Amino acid sequence: MVEKTMDTSVLDIQRIRAEFPILHQEVNGFPLVYLDNAATTQKPVSVIKALTDYYEGYNSNIHRGAHHLAAKATDVFEQARVSIAEFIHAPEAEEVIFTKGTTDGINLVAHGYGRKFLQAGDEILISGLEHHSNIVPWQMIAEEKGAALRVIPVLESGEWDIEAGLALINERTKIVAINHVSNALGTINPVDVFIKKAHSFGAVVLLDGAQSASHLHVDVKALNCDFYVFSGHKVYGPTGCGVLYGKRALLEKMNPYQGGGEMIKEVSFTKTTYNEIPFKFEAGTPNIADVIALKAAIAYIESYGREQIAAHEDELLQTATRLFAQIEGVRIVGTAKEKIGVLSFLVDGYHPFDVGMLLDALGIAVRTGHHCVQPLMAQFGIEGTVRASFAMYNTLDEVEKLAKAVERLAQKKRK
Ligand code: ALA
Repeated sequence: MVEKTMDTSVLDIQRIRAEFPILHQEVNGFPLVYLDNAATTQKPVSVIKALTDYYEGYNSNIHRGAHHLAAKATDVFEQARVSIAEFIHAPEAEEVIFTKGTTDGINLVAHGYGRKFLQAGDEILISGLEHHSNIVPWQMIAEEKGAALRVIPVLESGEWDIEAGLALINERTKIVAINHVSNALGTINPVDVFIKKAHSFGAVVLLDGAQSASHLHVDVKALNCDFYVFSGHKVYGPTGCGVLYGKRALLEKMNPYQGGGEMIKEVSFTKTTYNEIPFKFEAGTPNIADVIALKAAIAYIESYGREQIAAHEDELLQTATRLFAQIEGVRIVGTAKEKIGVLSFLVDGYHPFDVGMLLDALGIAVRTGHHCVQPLMAQFGIEGTVRASFAMYNTLDEVEKLAKAVERLAQKKRK
């Protein structure tokens, strides 16, 4: 049977939980245990309030109007760009482009950079841990340009085969697009060595930061990546907004991904000239409210500190891993040495979906299925996993509830 563990977190988890209204409800007669944070995080009151403050107090279009509300909305929107640049240590706020999310950011680079600079015979390197959103856009552009996709192999532990992966970088490699952290297994990838080698061959590197932005200290300058993308909704902010960071020199030579208002300098029927960055990539009215709320989400994370949040989530992961290792009939998928708080697992005798349904009956929310990494699941010879993923507001008590529930399920099949 699973043993109790003392919470040694430096964070005041009860205070944090009080700031997330959604957590205080029952599901199927049990207190909600929300462990689907890799899919989307919940939102603190300050983020929800930033949305209502905007709509109730200064809703207006930005960069256009000559009136008070427009000026205020523009100011706060542009302050968000500055906060986000500071959050990821981007040298300049203009290097921060607002997008719809990680997927949109990757597509922007694939179309804005790939379409312009790739040629037949060039290679794009991705990894066997990629989410579909960091596979499909590259396949589309590779097909269009006659380029080839290469894939960093993945070991049984869920870690990259570093040597084999590095050996794939050569003079034909033009783009390396890799995830910082695996969404399905939680592996923290050794991106720095890949960035260095890619640069030595003149390739550019895009980091998919969807799963790293709220868990790791991200410094795009120190990483020296060329592009970094993440989503608002995975960093306690709203859905439908995200960030693409790109080095100025690259963004300036890229083509815009979409045409429309705001991204132009001058339009005539014979020729259009494009705006400066970041506006060149922000055609149309942006997602003003959600970008403003994303600023509140970043401030919320910073108020507790990413190191402290990471330490707490690591304690949850270590506890979960230890408890699950004691359960007969349970297999953890993804045993990398460096992981964020993601526990993917299988229970003997159950389809992952059934485990998800049975946990849901106890108020425990997890994700089940292929987690948008079908090639990885195919390599492991499985259809999918059950995935519990932790955030700053989760408790050791919740981890123990999960372990006990899974233990009971496993026990039933052992009888
Ligand atoms: N990419 C998200 C996940 O891993 C949706 O669940």
